Amino acid sequence: MHHAHATAPVALVTGAARRIGAAMTRHLALKGWRVLAHWHQSREDMDTLARECHGRVETLRADLATAEGRCQLAKQVLGRVKDEGLDLVVHNASHFPHARLADVDDALFDTLFTLHVKTPLLLSRDLAPALSRRSGMVLNLLDAGAPLQWPGYLPYALSKQALKDATIALARELAPAVRVNGIAPGFILPPENAPDSYRHAEALRLTQAVGGPAEILRALDYLLDSPFVTGEILTVDGGRRWIRPLASNAPAAPSACEELRRVSGGPAPRPQVPPSLSRA
Ligand SMILES: NC(=O)c1ccc[n+]([C@@H]2O[C@H](COP(=O)([O-])OP(=O)(O)OC[C@H]3O[C@@H](n4cnc5c(N)ncnc54)[C@H](OP(=O)(O)O)[C@@H]3O)[C@@H](O)[C@H]2O)c1
Repeated sequence: MHHAHATAPVALVTGAARRIGAAMTRHLALKGWRVLAHWHQSREDMDTLARECHGRVETLRADLATAEGRCQLAKQVLGRVKDEGLDLVVHNASHFPHARLADVDDALFDTLFTLHVKTPLLLSRDLAPALSRRSGMVLNLLDAGAPLQWPGYLPYALSKQALKDATIALARELAPAVRVNGIAPGFILPPENAPDSYRHAEALRLTQAVGGPAEILRALDYLLDSPFVTGEILTVDGGRRWIRPLASNAPAAPSACEELRRVSGGPAPRPQVPPSLSRA
């Protein structure tokens, strides 16, 4: 991005304490940005990252699955940037629960649609005046696997699909002052204790390479440096979505997810090859 401003560029990153959010925050801080880093429950990780970034990172806490939390964050951000404006807002905060349709209750459904759709849309609306002062950009973190609507992750996938549509809608609403783009990662960060079968699933990409947060950072840099690009979704998944169902020669992918859930005790990684496609 080309900055005609004397002060450092300013970003808000939600869900910034850990994993991909932390990688983006660290990356921007290293490039000299001032980062307003949002967190919800990972206080320790957030404090460590802020210390690491030597004053370039300011932390803000909010529950973005509620309207109150969203309004509180908007107010805090506007209070911090004052008339300076904002260059970038990254909607990264996410929740990836495993729940069969039978287990989905109203609260879970509302949490996911608020966190993944309503909050990014309305927070962008409220921060748009600050963004337009600097010809800024909104960046939504989507999911390359969302269109597959894996059994067990339906409300997550539907909400990420809705965020994809919201990305295009916002790009039209906020043009020309603010650009709006999306990055759709696929299989970037597994749980830390992933078993070997995860590596097997990794090898099924078209690129035959293992992804990582660095791939997302390259996509981020491209979008920041491309003032002619808006309403675009960059898929960063090693080409996985184009691979024909793998079950015939590589049945490990779906079971890797089951295995990961068992080993990690937490949610499974995003399954890229749903059993429903395994016969095609
Ligand atoms: N990892 C992958 O391979 C992958 C694949 C496809 C798509 N993506 C997308 O890429 C983005 C980053 O992925 P990730 O795996 O790094 O994300 P993640 O670890 O699942 O979540 C990022 C952060 O979201 C925050 N969060 C969750 N619920 C919240 C709430 N109610 N209010 C406020 N913040 C909340 C958490 O903050 P605290 O920890 O502070 O509570 C969490 O650290 C996500 O949008 C994800 O959907 C990732």
